[in-house]
Amino acid sequence: MQIQLALAKGRVAKKAIALLGEVGYTFPDYSDDSRKLIFTDSTGRIAFFLVKSPDVPTYVAKGVADIGIVGRDVLMEHPAPVYELLNLNIGRCRICVAGMENAQIPQNKKIVVGTKYPTIAKHYYNEKKQPVDIIYLNGSVELAPILGLSDYIVDIVETGSTLKENGLVVLEEIAQVSSRLIANKVSLKTKRAAIDPILEKFDSMRYDG
Ligand code: PRP
Repeated sequence: MQIQLALAKGRVAKKAIALLGEVGYTFPDYSDDSRKLIFTDSTGRIAFFLVKSPDVPTYVAKGVADIGIVGRDVLMEHPAPVYELLNLNIGRCRICVAGMENAQIPQNKKIVVGTKYPTIAKHYYNEKKQPVDIIYLNGSVELAPILGLSDYIVDIVETGSTLKENGLVVLEEIAQVSSRLIANKVSLKTKRAAIDPILEKFDSMRYDG
């Protein structure tokens, strides 16, 4: 029985594929620069496919993928009816509010926030009872406060170098994030015998780096 794994493209995919290698699954066809999207491991037990991160919970919820690896940020932004099996401890970063160093934002004013995470941002400012206009952006979010599109951004900070190189600073931390192993609820019942060994291998790694 082959397990279908949905993997978020980009930094997480590289780390997840390295982690799969460490637990014994190798993908001979895979290389960083390949444009191929589906890869099968040398034993045929797992096939993974690469999708944009917000699509991972969708593929898993629909049962096209039995399991998926995706950041907690994505699960917070796009809640889906899937089981979260394990914190893989890879792709660790923080969701933060950032802005221009020394920016003077008048008190008691509705603030404008640019973000790829409108749900997370809305929830955060609702809790704080802070009036906010959220502007949804697809990427290069750091540009928004620099060019005057927004007062602040809510975004992922990993090394902090993107903020630093653009003269921005972290102002508040919203949440700690790392990659999670998720599973389709039906697959977990019908393919338990094939999923369990994968889960056990990841669990036994107790990955800390
Ligand atoms: C993410 C995030 C920041 C950057 C943070 O963007 O939105 O821009 O990484 O990483 P750092 O703290 O290590 O610098 P991504 O690379 O996914 O590109 P994007 O702006 O096109 O979404």
